[in-house]
Amino acid sequence: MDAREMKIRAAAAALSYVEDGMRLGIGTGSTADEFVRLLAERVANGMSVVGVPTSERTARLCVELDVPLMSLDELPELDLTIDGADEVDGQLRLIKGGGGALLREKIVASASSRMIVIADETKVVETLGAFKLPIEVNPFGMVATRIAIEKLAAKLGLSGAIEPRRSGDGIFTTDGGHYILDASFGRIPDAEALASALNAIPGVVEHGLFINMASIAIIAGPAGARTLK
Ligand code: 5RP
Repeated sequence: MDAREMKIRAAAAALSYVEDGMRLGIGTGSTADEFVRLLAERVANGMSVVGVPTSERTARLCVELDVPLMSLDELPELDLTIDGADEVDGQLRLIKGGGGALLREKIVASASSRMIVIADETKVVETLGAFKLPIEVNPFGMVATRIAIEKLAAKLGLSGAIEPRRSGDGIFTTDGGHYILDASFGRIPDAEALASALNAIPGVVEHGLFINMASIAIIAGPAGARTLK
């Protein structure tokens, strides 16, 4: 079974949580794209849902496939968000932002009664941090913000390169016009402490640690899909 088939399997399992009339947050990434494709089939067959996309990329795919959309301002309270993740641990703590959409993903997930994570087995980890932690920052003073992150990380016993994400010849810019610093901490033993510390740095817009946000994670592997609660 290849990686795409596992993503489709996780997305298909998540679809069983979607009910007619739901207001859905729709995530970003290759796994979320598979969910959109399956959801579009349901919509074509008469299911009535409205989605709030977490990125321009997801919005484009939804429009292409005729999945009805509204903005979060039009639909500020959502029933369910379904989104992928870069890492998930046994307590359903996540690293997200590999696709650069972490800010909108976190806002949309926070506006939802429930968040379901869809991922394949490769995303499940004992301790978060092998995946570089994306930290969305204001372009103004990015270097000062990076230094502040380095200092606080050192206080928490964390070290490693913190580098601006690049895209082509330039710096990657998020849908909100911010930059992303990818932090190679390697291992984050106290994700809660790091999340609180990052939130206190003025230039940090948001970070990719999603704690106490996911209700369940659907993890697909070659033998089937399992649920982490
Ligand atoms: C985007 C994300 C994605 O959900 C995450 O990167 C997983 O993507 P994929 O399903 O392509 O592996 O957080 O910001």
